[in-house]
Amino acid sequence: MKTFDVIIVGAGAAGLMCAIEAGKRGRKVLVLEKANKPGKKILMSGGGRCNFTNYDVTPDKYISHNPHFVKSALNRFTQWDFIALVEKHGIPFHEKTLGQLFCDHKSQAILNLLLTECNEVGVTIQLNNNIEKLTKLNDGKFLVISNQASLLCQSLVIASGGLSIPTLGASPFGYQIAEQFGIPIWPIRAGLVPILFTPKQREQFSILSGISVRSLVSHKNISFCENILFTHRGLSGPAILQISSYCELFDNIKINLLPEIDVLSMLKSEKVNQSEKQLKSILSIHLPKRLVEIFFNEYLLKKQIKSLLQEEIIEISQRLNNWTITVSETEGYRTAEVTLGGVDCNSISSKTMEVSSTPGLFFIGEVLDVTGWLGGYNFQWAWSSGWAAGQVV
Ligand code: FDA
Repeated sequence: MKTFDVIIVGAGAAGLMCAIEAGKRGRKVLVLEKANKPGKKILMSGGGRCNFTNYDVTPDKYISHNPHFVKSALNRFTQWDFIALVEKHGIPFHEKTLGQLFCDHKSQAILNLLLTECNEVGVTIQLNNNIEKLTKLNDGKFLVISNQASLLCQSLVIASGGLSIPTLGASPFGYQIAEQFGIPIWPIRAGLVPILFTPKQREQFSILSGISVRSLVSHKNISFCENILFTHRGLSGPAILQISSYCELFDNIKINLLPEIDVLSMLKSEKVNQSEKQLKSILSIHLPKRLVEIFFNEYLLKKQIKSLLQEEIIEISQRLNNWTITVSETEGYRTAEVTLGGVDCNSISSKTMEVSSTPGLFFIGEVLDVTGWLGGYNFQWAWSSGWAAGQVV
């Protein structure tokens, strides 16, 4: 039976980073991957250009039931460390917006970086691998039985990711292993995910498909000021994806379609000045004409501002500065970028990612109850947590 120092389950971002670090320490490392290729999500990420990290990584950009958990790993392997690796491999990159760093060319460059580093330190990657059974033996080693072989290892790292995009190889494997070893799991759900309209809203708004509006989207005490995108099925765009990670089904979100303009004050002062402009012409300065036409009826849009009634002004301003949508459904794991919830961080060492109750067993990356904002934060968590485990496995 073949024996390894370290077996890592999952050749994604976190698993490959952990493999590199363990390999650098002279450990004999095997990565078992279920899919026919490593790093499929890396290739898909950032619209094909991989948003690999962010200039502004701070713990408050992460959602977890233990908000302190991410601090140690993020402090020890920072965005600057990953940027240095990207520079070492001569990969050209740029800041797109809000500190988000993307490859100038294809995401493949980031995967090549990881595979080259793995190769340099003698890491073995086995694809098309299905683990059938996994047990901890009395001598502390782990026995891994797969469709390809029976293997032994001292350290076992679960880097199998979350449930988003099943077609890319996502599986509940990590949660099942956590359950097997009695580690609590927080309920999981899709995050960074488009919100679907109700059938009635779809009838009204699907004509706006393709329109993007910079908006302030809020839920409780969290807000994001970025674009929202109307689609055939609902709302997407960065501000919607971000807020989706903070709200549950049937929560209300508030959308301010004109965050820089207090519509109530604007219309009131135009009315005081006896403005003869039609409502439509005023609103169309600030918003796409098509959107204005869907949000208000023709009678109202043709009215001169001076003749708008007080209650009409209030209603218009509410609709634009405080449009409220109930999240009745999301696109789910089919298109979600991440999985919220997961393996309980209180059961894991924040320094090493080792399970406190099961020495030798580690969890890294998205399978943990750690979810970053949109903008490179999730990959940074994969790099940092993978690096942290890689120092000790
Ligand atoms: P990841 O999912 O990357 O890897 C897990 C690996 O385990 C996969 O290769 C899977 O096949 C394998 N696996 C699963 N079950 C297994 C089993 N039973 N046996 C063996 N192997 C198994 N983030 C970001 O920061 N910037 C971005 O630009 C994007 N863009 C983006 C686009 C899209 C479309 C998605 C879906 C997601 C993103 N993300 C992102 C999120 C980011 O991709 C994600 O958070 C990380 O890939 C998580 O890394 P992990 O290594 O934890 O899991």
